[in-house]
Amino acid sequence: MTAKITLHMVSSLDGFIAKKDGSISWMRSTDTYEKGMTLSDEDIADVLQKIDCYVMGSRTYEHALELGWPYGDTPVVVVTSRILSSNSPSVSFYSGDLKELVNNILRSKYQNTWLVGGALLSKGFLQQNLVDDIIISIMPVILGDGTLFFDFIGKEQDLHLIDVTAYKDGMVELWYELN
Ligand SMILES: NC(=O)c1ccc[n+]([C@@H]2O[C@H](COP(=O)([O-])OP(=O)(O)OC[C@H]3O[C@@H](n4cnc5c(N)ncnc54)[C@H](OP(=O)(O)O)[C@@H]3O)[C@@H](O)[C@H]2O)c1
Repeated sequence: MTAKITLHMVSSLDGFIAKKDGSISWMRSTDTYEKGMTLSDEDIADVLQKIDCYVMGSRTYEHALELGWPYGDTPVVVVTSRILSSNSPSVSFYSGDLKELVNNILRSKYQNTWLVGGALLSKGFLQQNLVDDIIISIMPVILGDGTLFFDFIGKEQDLHLIDVTAYKDGMVELWYELN
């Protein structure tokens, strides 16, 4: 099996991944969609244990530290041009060419890497064709303002729809493969 880079993002219906004030309560839906699926804790654990490495931009990293670290001791690579430090042995920092990061480090070390944002780093990956799959979880909300997921990538890209799953809380997950 070839090593894969999956871009995963939670978005509002109008394409925002973050509010200006940084609050994330919009990611917890109170909607009900009777025909939707429910994920058990075991299902979630099953998905998470298949992820070998997370990659993220420094703003996402700093926000995750503020909110409470959700990545356990899975390796995390933070892309930054600053000198940052961490007490955690699972966190490393990368500065430089994204192609080299993906081809020389991520694809050679990890089977299943998840790029978990934010918009700026995702844009760099998409512009340089470094993403294999996109999984987007659309919450039943219009935010109207904030950080756009796809903010003028400047490049047309055909996608292949692999799967669509609707959940009981009204979240719809779209899974695409990039051609
Ligand atoms: N809804 C979701 O699923 C989701 C997921 C992730 C994040 N978020 C939210 O999105 C917001 C952050 O997103 P964002 O787009 O503002 O920022 P981001 O992509 O997380 O981080 C941007 C930073 O990453 C570094 N960076 C990006 N590309 C680089 C490159 N090619 N070379 C070197 N460094 C590079 C730079 O760091 P330096 O400035 O340090 O050099 C840049 O300022 C946060 O509020 C976060 O909570 C939401």
